[in-house]
Amino acid sequence: MALAPQTRPRTLGWEWYKLMKRGESQGRRRQAVLALNSKSCKAKCSYKYNNNNNNNKGKDRFGFGFVEKEWNRGSSIIDIIMAAHPLRHVDSMATMPSGAGKIPYLNAVILGEALASEENDLIYPSDDFSRQAHVPSPQKYLELYERSVKDPGGFWSDVASQFYWKHKWAADHVYSENVDVRKGPVQIEWFKGGITNICYNCLDRNVEAGLGDKIALHWEGNDLGNDASLTYSHLLHRVSQLANYLKDIGVRKGDAVIVYLPMLLELPITMLACARIGAVHSVVFAGFSAESLAQRIIDCKPKLVITCNAVKRGPKVIPLKDIVDAAFVQSSQTGVSIDTCLVYENALAMKREKTNWQDGRDIWWQDVIPNYSTKCEVEWVDAEDPLFLLYTSGSTGKPKGVLHTTGGYMVYTATTFKYAFDYKPSDIYWCTADCGWITGHSYVTYGPLLNGATCIVFEGAPNYPDSGRCWDIVDKYKVTIFYTAPTLYVTRYSRKSLRILGSVGEPINPSAWRWFYNVVGDSRCPISDTWWQTETGGFMITPLPGAWPQKPGSATFPFFGVQPVIVDEKGVEIEGECSGYLCVKGSWPGAFRTLYGDHERYETTYFKPFAGYYFTGDGCSRQAKLANLHKSMFRDKDGYHWLTGRVDDVINVSGHRIGTAEVESALVSHPKCAEAAVVGVEHEVKGQAIYAFVTLVEGESYSEELRNSLILAVRKQIGAFAAPDRIHWAPGLPKTRSGKIMRRILRKIASGQLGELGDTSTLADPNVVDQLIALSNC
Ligand code: WTA
Repeated sequence: MALAPQTRPRTLGWEWYKLMKRGESQGRRRQAVLALNSKSCKAKCSYKYNNNNNNNKGKDRFGFGFVEKEWNRGSSIIDIIMAAHPLRHVDSMATMPSGAGKIPYLNAVILGEALASEENDLIYPSDDFSRQAHVPSPQKYLELYERSVKDPGGFWSDVASQFYWKHKWAADHVYSENVDVRKGPVQIEWFKGGITNICYNCLDRNVEAGLGDKIALHWEGNDLGNDASLTYSHLLHRVSQLANYLKDIGVRKGDAVIVYLPMLLELPITMLACARIGAVHSVVFAGFSAESLAQRIIDCKPKLVITCNAVKRGPKVIPLKDIVDAAFVQSSQTGVSIDTCLVYENALAMKREKTNWQDGRDIWWQDVIPNYSTKCEVEWVDAEDPLFLLYTSGSTGKPKGVLHTTGGYMVYTATTFKYAFDYKPSDIYWCTADCGWITGHSYVTYGPLLNGATCIVFEGAPNYPDSGRCWDIVDKYKVTIFYTAPTLYVTRYSRKSLRILGSVGEPINPSAWRWFYNVVGDSRCPISDTWWQTETGGFMITPLPGAWPQKPGSATFPFFGVQPVIVDEKGVEIEGECSGYLCVKGSWPGAFRTLYGDHERYETTYFKPFAGYYFTGDGCSRQAKLANLHKSMFRDKDGYHWLTGRVDDVINVSGHRIGTAEVESALVSHPKCAEAAVVGVEHEVKGQAIYAFVTLVEGESYSEELRNSLILAVRKQIGAFAAPDRIHWAPGLPKTRSGKIMRRILRKIASGQLGELGDTSTLADPNVVDQLIALSNC
C-alpha cells in the first residue's frame, strides 16, 4: 500500500511507523511489530494482529491503514469546519493535528485490560486506578470544578492554606481582577497582602515535615555513568550557600538575575536561591545564541549573570562561557554592562584552565559558594512580588518578558502538578523539559518540589548515546510519572515502573496518542495531555487521570478555576460543539501579571483581540456532550477540548516556541537577504518545521553556500533550534495590494498543497505564485 508523503503520521509514531511500513512492504509486518515491542506487549500485539487479519484492510490497529483512514477523515472535517468558520489555522494545516471533530465510533476500553485501537474513543481508567486517584470520578471533578468557578476565592483560599504563609491575605480579598480592557487597565492579583516565600515552601517546609532525607533531585548527566542526587536537606544547604553569596555581593529583593545554565543541578539551585532572597530570576535556555542572550540582558538589566564554562550535548562540547562573553560585548555596546559573572566549572565538559576569563568580572562558583554558610534567612515577600521573568516568542521580533509573581504561581503549579499527575509521595517523577522553558520552571522545579516529590534532572539528549536513553533512565530510577513532549522515540523496553504519562508542547494526534498509550505505557498508564502556556504558569486544560474517560488526542477538560471559552472571529462565545479561537474568562492564580516593562503590549496582545477575555493564540475544537451515553457525566457546556494549534505567527518546533517574525528578522539581517517570510509546516518528528521564503537583494544569485550562510545567520541570532529546515528562493512574495504577505498561500506551497492555493487574483502580482512553484525544488 503506497502512501503519499502527507499521509505519514507525525511525532511519536514516526520511527515505529517507518518500521511498520517497511515490514508491510516486505510482507513482514508482524515481525516489525514484534521487533519493536516489549515482551509483555508482544502477545497482545500479535493477538491483535491476528485478530484483525480477516478484515484488516484500512482498519488494522497497528498499521498505517488506520492512519490513512484517520487522515482522510481529517481532511473532510477540515472542509466542514472551513465552511462554517474560515479560520486561519484550519486552512494552514494538512490535517487537524489533534484529531478534532466527530468520531464515528464510541467503543470503550478499560486501562490495563485492552489495547486502545482506532475504534476506541473512550478509554476508561481501571477501577483500581480510579479508586486510588485524587479525583476518582467525573462527579467528583464536577463538584470540585463547580466550586472553583462559583467561589474562586473560597476554593483557592482552601488550597493556599496548605502552604506556609508568614501572614495570610485578607479573607475578604483573596483575588482582584480586571481582564476587560473596556473597563480600564488589565490587572490580576491573587492573595495580595499574603506574605510567603516559594523557596521556603519548596525546601524548609518539606524538611520540617520530615522529608529531609528524601531525594529531591536525581541528576543524570549527558554521559552514561555520570549522576548525582540531592536530598531535601542537601538541596536546602546548597541553595542557602548560593543565596548567601548573592546577598553578599549586593543582590537585593526585586533585582533581576540572568541564568544561562544547562540542566545541571546548579540550575534549579540557582532558581531557588534567587527566590529565597526575593531576587527575580530570568532563565535563558542555554541553546540561545549570544545575540538572543544579549537582547535579554539589555531588556532586564540583571545584577549578575550565572552560567557555566561549557556543556556537553551528546558528543559535542559547547563553550557556553564564550557565548556569554560575546553577549556581554553586545550588551555593553548599548550601555548595559555586567559587573559579575558567576561561572560554574562543569569539569565533565571542560576544565577551567581552558576557559576564557576576565579577571574582576568572572568568578568561579566552586571558589566562592562552598565558603558560605548553609543556613540563609528567608526574604519574606508579598504574594504579588515578582518571582521570575521568562522571555517567550510572540508574533513580533522582540521576545516578551512574561512576568510571574509568587503566591498565585506557587499555589497553582503545586496544585496542577498534584492533580494532573495524580501525584503520590511514593512516585518518582521525570519531566524531560529544560528549565530554560516554562515547563522546566513549573514542572521540573517548583511544582514537584512544592509537593515534596523526587524529581529527575536530565542534562543530556534523548537520543544519546542512542535512542533508548530515555527508557534506560526510566528503568534506572524506576520512574512512575513521565512527562514529555510528543517528539520522542521508543526503541528499548521495560518501563514497568511507569504509571502515568504526560504530554505537552504541541497537539498530539490520535495515532501518536494511541502509540504513546499502547507502546510506551503498555496500555496501562493514563496520559495527561496538558495544554498550557508560558503565560498561564500551569496546566489549563488537562486530563485528571482516574476521573474521566480519555479520548485519544484530546486535552479533555479545564483544570479547577479555569473557564475556557471558544469564540468566533467577532469574539462571540460559541456554545456546544464548535471550533474557534480559544480564550479564557476571568483569571486564575497562575496567570502572568504583565510583560516586563510593557504593560501596554500585554493588554494589546492578550486582552484586546477579544475584549473581555484572555486570548491564548491557539485554536480549539470542542465536542458537545457525548450523545446519551454519558449523560450523567457531561453538562451541556462540558465537552472534550481538542487543541488545533496556534492561530498566530508562532511555531512550535519540538516543543520550542518560536516566532516567525524572529526568524524573519534574523534572515533579513543577512546582507544578501532583501525580504523573508517564514511559515510552519507539519514535520513528522518535530511537530512543526521552519520553512523560509527568501528574496535576495538585487544582483545576488542563488547558491548552496548562500543558503547555508542564511541558515547560519538564524543559528547565530536565535540559536540552532530555530534554524530553518528549508530555504525556498523567492523572486518575490505573494502580497495583497496593500502589501500584506499572504502567508496562507506560502503555507500551501510549503506543504506541497498546490491544488489548494485558493483565490490568488487579489494578489498585487499573481505571477509570483507560479514563480515560487517553479522554484519549489531548487
Ligand atoms: C502549544 C509550553 C496542544 C500551544 C507549555 C500553546 C499545546 C503553546 C499543548 C505554548 C498541548 C502546549 N496540546 N498544544 N497539550 N501544550 N501547546 O509557551 O500552541 O512554550 O499556545 O508553553 O504550545 O507554548 P509555551
